[in-house]
Amino acid sequence: MRSLQSILFFIVASVFALDMARLVLHFDINKTLIMSDSAGGKGMEDLVNQIIMQNIWGYVNMEKLNKTNKTDRINLYNCWVCVSTEPTIEPPLHNETLYNLDDFVSNFVYPYPEWSIEDPNGEISPSERLEINKVARDGRTIIRKDFLNTAQGAPWKTEVDSLLNKLKAPESVGGGFVNILPGFFDLLLHLTNKNRDFTIIFRTFGDMHDISLVTKEFNLFCSGLHPRYTNVPSSLELKQLLVDPNIPNKNVGFMFLHGPSAEQVHLFTGSIERPLLLKDLMNQQEISNLEEVVNSNSVVPLEMYTGYKSIYNTVSQHAKDGRTCSYRDFYYWWNVNNERSHAGKVYVVDPSDTKTLQIFLYVIFISKDPNDLFSDDNVYMGHESPSRGIINMRDSRTGENMRHEQFVDMLLVHVEPFDAIRDPLFFIKKVELCEKKWLEYSLVNGH
Ligand SMILES: *[C@@H]1O[C@H](CO)[C@@H](O)[C@H](O)[C@H]1NC(C)=O
Ligand SMILES: *[C@@H]1O[C@H](CO)[C@@H](O)[C@H](O)[C@H]1NC(C)=O
Ligand SMILES: *[C@@H]1O[C@H](CO)[C@@H](O)[C@H](O)[C@H]1NC(C)=O
Ligand SMILES: *[C@@H]1O[C@H](CO)[C@@H](O)[C@H](O)[C@H]1NC(C)=O
Repeated sequence: MRSLQSILFFIVASVFALDMARLVLHFDINKTLIMSDSAGGKGMEDLVNQIIMQNIWGYVNMEKLNKTNKTDRINLYNCWVCVSTEPTIEPPLHNETLYNLDDFVSNFVYPYPEWSIEDPNGEISPSERLEINKVARDGRTIIRKDFLNTAQGAPWKTEVDSLLNKLKAPESVGGGFVNILPGFFDLLLHLTNKNRDFTIIFRTFGDMHDISLVTKEFNLFCSGLHPRYTNVPSSLELKQLLVDPNIPNKNVGFMFLHGPSAEQVHLFTGSIERPLLLKDLMNQQEISNLEEVVNSNSVVPLEMYTGYKSIYNTVSQHAKDGRTCSYRDFYYWWNVNNERSHAGKVYVVDPSDTKTLQIFLYVIFISKDPNDLFSDDNVYMGHESPSRGIINMRDSRTGENMRHEQFVDMLLVHVEPFDAIRDPLFFIKKVELCEKKWLEYSLVNGH
């Protein structure tokens, strides 16, 4: 049992530690802050279909699937037999052979080929893998559009409509916004009102277009010009982010990966505009004069940082003044590596640093992979430890891959769009939970 003294110590230490620690929030854009692939329109409806599909569960009829022509999309849906009576994040019953509808589409109907991980630059080059994977990805996108027109989808129309209603801004506000989730803005107001020091880092696999749209809405909010938030503290003014590709800004940049080792992981800062040639450069494991090559293809001068330690130091340094940052992640390398976490968004942390609490908030795209079920280190553990995931979390001290489980709701937040859309306090609650767990972790580990 804890003595009164130790409880008091805990409370004092908590207040002190939190006051001291800088909060660095990496926010993925896609499906975490905005629920469409582009401003409003059709993209949002497809994504909401997908969110419902991810939360309804059923069995796969393999025999029928084997006999069904892949172009017969409506009948493909009939190869999955629903057991859910309402959308739920976790399966309604415990059975290994239960898949949510979206996993069924991704893993059974349109799976990616299993590319060799040991030999990332093998016979089929990364660029070629990208093209082959794209065919499967396009198939998934097309089939999701049919959802409400199928016997499996039709019963969920009310749920789809209800999420859409929550996402669509009132007419008076609408025009030209990507509709960043209100819960995000509420978090910023909450932290500001508590005088909690924080830095936002936007992370995305998306392109310049996506980043500009999100930044535009974010900057309007910070300057008190967002029609839904007219009364914001003036200190937020400083959080505005500049992403003009013609003006150098050390707080923006992009990642580039072209191999599995730390020397093949780079952060470029200065511009968010990524030279096109990087997509082809990833075919080469060794690139001489990389910094020069990239710079000769860039409008503004870029700095290159190689390896996890160096990336950690750079990101920490930039986060120090509380200004907003934004980094584009290297989608291509992740995709050609079977969308596994070791090739995903680079996230370097130092769990022994008591002055900084970094949190990465993101959506797990792929929750369950039938190919992983029987291999030891890839056991499916609910949403705990996906070997397929988008976060490449490394220890800054060693460069080692970190297991995710221990750090969920501490350094990692799995955003469930289904919850984040319905609960305006979602982000506030999650950040508070992370702070609490991190303090406990710091005290237990004697920092
Ligand atoms: C379906 O096809 C796959 C490969 O073509 C085969 O391994 C599997 O046994 C088949 N399953 C059924 C239930 O027919
Ligand atoms: C699948 O259906 C399409 C169009 O209905 C047809 O052209 C194609 O030959 C069929 N494929 C198989 C393997 O039966
Ligand atoms: C899981 O579901 C399948 C298909 O309905 C069934 O055959 C199997 O016995 C179930 N397994 C368990 C552990 O309940
Ligand atoms: C979201 O991800 C998709 C690929 O899954 C990509 O095509 C799109 O550009 C991304 N959008 C944003 C805003 O990041």
